[in-house]
Amino acid sequence: MGRKIVILINKWRQLRKKLLRFWSTFFTYLLCKLYGVKLAAGIGFWKRPVIYRELDSVIMIGEKCVFRSDLDSNLLGGNKRCILSTHAANAEIRIGQQCAFTGVTIGAMKQVVLGDQVLVGVNSIITDFDWHSMDPYDRDNKQKMIAKPVVIGDHVWIGANCTILKGVTIGKNTIVGSGSVVTKDLPANAICAGNPCRIIRYCS
Ligand SMILES: CC(C)(COP(=O)(O)OP(=O)(O)OC[C@H]1O[C@@H](n2cnc3c(N)ncnc32)[C@H](O)[C@@H]1OP(=O)(O)O)[C@@H](O)C(=O)NCCC(=O)NCCS
Repeated sequence: MGRKIVILINKWRQLRKKLLRFWSTFFTYLLCKLYGVKLAAGIGFWKRPVIYRELDSVIMIGEKCVFRSDLDSNLLGGNKRCILSTHAANAEIRIGQQCAFTGVTIGAMKQVVLGDQVLVGVNSIITDFDWHSMDPYDRDNKQKMIAKPVVIGDHVWIGANCTILKGVTIGKNTIVGSGSVVTKDLPANAICAGNPCRIIRYCS
């Protein structure tokens, strides 16, 4: 009896996930088309992400990426929706093919570029600016905020709850351990972790 209930509940969960993906994807494609966000084919959404596109900025997402914004769709437990936002004319968010995100925030005032097959762990943040200025009397003045491009190479895996800060380049295949704060460039093929994030060793 107990086994049957587990099987039934698991089947219901799978079905719910499929239905959620279907509807979320349908509506997100529709809204993105109206809003000028460029989506390639085959992208999957579990619940709608939050997308804010500043006029004359670019948000481009490559084929077969996956955006999970629903608590059940990744059992690590993303605690918020994915959020993509640009904050200046000419700002760019460019995401390659087959990348995956759960409850991830990406914010660009200049440029955030991700290669292909980049995995970004639950609740991580990637941002090319500080969101406030250094001026104590003018924290919200966008003209005073410093933005430096962020570039993340192909096959990079960023663990859960990481923060990737402005000006950082991460070389291809590198792993960033959970909870890391990346303030400086990381080379390719490295395993890195910590706050501030440092190289632990190179991939064998
Ligand atoms: C980075 C990671 C892959 C390294 O795994 P590993 O090679 O087995 O590393 P080890 O456990 O052997 O640890 C090696 C050293 O790095 C340190 N380290 C590992 N992960 C760390 C982290 N996230 N933050 C700080 N230090 C870390 C260890 O303390 C250890 O230090 P020591 O040599 O001084 O004892 C793994 O720790 C990790 O963070 N995985 C991400 C998991 C995750 O977020 N999954 C979400 C799914 S997207």
